[in-house]
This record gives sequence, C-alpha cells and structure tokens, in this order.
Amino acid sequence: MARKIVVASGKGGVGKTTLTIGLGKALAAGGARVLLVDFDNLRAIDLMLGAAGNVVFDWGDVVQGRCAPEDAILQQQGVSFLACPPSYDGVTPQQVRDLIGRVEAAFDYVLFDAPAGIGTGLQLAAAAAQRALVVATPDLVCVRSACRAAQELEKQGVKSSRLVINRAARRDIRRRQMLNIDDVIDATGVQLIAIIPEDKRLRSAGMEGGVCLPGQISREAFLNLAKRVQGKNVPLMYLFV
Ligand SMILES: Nc1ncnc2c1ncn2[C@@H]1O[C@H](COP(=O)(O)OP(=O)(O)OP(=O)(O)O)[C@@H](O)[C@H]1O
Ligand SMILES: [Mg+2]
Repeated sequence: MARKIVVASGKGGVGKTTLTIGLGKALAAGGARVLLVDFDNLRAIDLMLGAAGNVVFDWGDVVQGRCAPEDAILQQQGVSFLACPPSYDGVTPQQVRDLIGRVEAAFDYVLFDAPAGIGTGLQLAAAAAQRALVVATPDLVCVRSACRAAQELEKQGVKSSRLVINRAARRDIRRRQMLNIDDVIDATGVQLIAIIPEDKRLRSAGMEGGVCLPGQISREAFLNLAKRVQGKNVPLMYLFV
C-alpha cells in the first residue's frame, strides 16, 4: 500500500503545487515510485511539469468510467501524475478512495495537491490521505489559514499534519516584514517538518517546468523533506537567503 499525503494550506498561492512537485521529484530521485494527483480545477500540476499538452484524460474520466486509470496516468520528469477534471461534478470522497485503491499498488507515494480554501476540493483531496503537509508562508493571514486547514483536515480524518514553512527569507524576518519561525509554529500549533527558502529560481518554475533542479537553493530542502517523510532523521535546514 502506498503512503498517501495531502498537501494543503487554506490560503492560496503559498506554494502547495510547488511543494507537491518538489517533494514528489525528491522522493523519485531516491528511487520511490510517485503519483501526484491534482485536485485543483485550474489544473496546475501538468502545467508546472511542462506536460499540459499531453493530457487527454483526467481522474474525473476514470471515476466516471470513461477511461482506464492507465489511460489517464502520465509520466513526466520522473513522476507520474493524474490531472484534475474541470469540475468535481458530484464526485464523492468514497469515489476518490476507490480510485486511489485501484492505482496505489503501483506506487510508493501518492501526493494529493489540494486547491486553496477549505471546501469540497480539500475534502476530496483529503479523502484518501493518511497524513497532511500544511504549507504556510511566514505571514499572519497565511498562518491563520494554515491553522484552519489543519483543523479541517483533522475533521476529515487526517490525524497527522506537519507544517512546511515556504518562502522563508532571513532578511525579511530580521526586518520584521515576516513572522519569525517560532511565531509561525506557535500560531499554527502544527509540528514543523521543513523550511523551504525563498528561491528566485522557483518564481518562474511554472514557465520553465523546473522544481527541484540541480543548482536551485530550494532543492536541498526538498531532498531533506523527502527523507523526513520517509522517516529518516534529518536536521531541519535553516538555509535562508
Ligand atoms: N520557495 C519559493 N520561492 C520562490 N517562489 C516560490 C516558492 N514557492 C512557490 N513559489 C512561487 O509562488 C507562486 C505560487 O506557487 P504555487 O502555485 O505552488 O502555489 P499554490 O499554493 O499551489 O497556489 P494555488 O492556491 O493557486 O493552488 C508560483 O509562482 C511559485 O513559483
Ligand atoms: Mg496549486
């Protein structure tokens, strides 16, 4: 059985999709078989992997019986992915669990990229997950929404959440333009698992299809996060720019 992890945040635009791809590629670099499942109707994963033109079927087509799972699962950059349908169209959490039950034997990890907010999309993204990574950037609004997302996930039965602080920049924290790391952990009440630094080469990752590439300062943080997700004891990295 694969390990299944939902990546959520509450507030939008904090780096969920970047983290899903970065963690997925880091796990794959260590030899794991990884499936990314997009739960954002705006469909970002295929775009950020540079595979938008390859998508014919999405997971909604599999759920509705219009194609087999193997027709919808594509490979790109060392990971497999399932694109999100344009609408959830009455899909239930049980249908998502059934879908994942059909495909998970071929994978070591299945990562669910949740949309922004705490509505239906989050419920579906969390339906088959055992654990959650809650992403927050170090600002007050984001921290509050991460806290709400973690509470919502617990209601959905995802009991184990870990916090990922994304876009941490030492200079902004020093200038008090951002919360410091301890404040973020206190405000969310969620145990920290990784700090991903602000990385200017990630800002254009969507255009260039490049997350977790050699030479990016965030790459080591993704590789370390992958090890921690696999249960290895790796010290937290405070590599800020
Ligand atoms: N550590 C980082 N350093 C610099 N830029 C980043 C970092 N993480 C993410 N970004 C950039 O922030 C933007 C938003 O990232 P992303 O799309 O992953 O967020 P999201 O939470 O998935 O958004 P949405 O809620 O819309 O799904 C992107 O332009 C991405 O390249
Ligand atoms: Mg996203």
